[in-house]
Amino acid sequence: MSVSLFITFEGPEGAGKSTQVRRLAARLEGAGVPHLVTREPGGTPMGFRVRELLLDPDVDISPLSEFLLYSASRAQLVREVIEPALAGGNVVVCDRYADSSVAYQGFGRGLEREFLQTVTWEATRGVTPAITFLLDLDPEEGLRRAAERGAKDRLELADLGFHRRVREGFLALAASQPERFVVLDASRPEEDLAGAVWALVERTLAFLPGLRRG
Ligand code: TYD
Repeated sequence: MSVSLFITFEGPEGAGKSTQVRRLAARLEGAGVPHLVTREPGGTPMGFRVRELLLDPDVDISPLSEFLLYSASRAQLVREVIEPALAGGNVVVCDRYADSSVAYQGFGRGLEREFLQTVTWEATRGVTPAITFLLDLDPEEGLRRAAERGAKDRLELADLGFHRRVREGFLALAASQPERFVVLDASRPEEDLAGAVWALVERTLAFLPGLRRG
């Protein structure tokens, strides 16, 4: 029997998702749990090209085109990477997924939610995470942290009002699906956050006896 688990990390700019993804991967490795780490936009050769386009500050992209490009990258990632890895009995950890589209393109850009859901259902074939860690952070602090990393990408350059709506969007999503979301205060120390993430994942894995151990 092969059992799998799909985990995503979400949150506004500079919340430290990538660090937490890396830390979780190291824990899974240490525990001998077969896993795969990926990210959005990107994760496939096609998605990587789309990512470059989406983040380029010199390219004008309308909200609808933006959503469709994220969805195109997502559709490719699900078929090429996520579905096969889940079918092979892996824990799949993804840095951003469909909730980012609801927060950024829905709440942030103002695209209609039902339309987003319909396209997302097709793009993901209904593949939904079992656990979503939302690293919540004040957007001013997040943008400051992101700016320290270097040149701003196209999304980071959007105004503060946009980033506030994105944060509210994530929190609204989490409130509407408490069975899937775990909201963590991303201003807490990195170690504490990693500990909270691992505690929940480890507990969940204990209920998945069919998971292969390396
Ligand atoms: P990335 O460098 O991965 O940012 P971060 O480190 O904050 O995850 O860039 C991804 C950007 O794309 C980020 O600003 C969020 C945005 N995004 C959307 O607007 N919609 C989406 O569906 C996804 C997946 C990402």
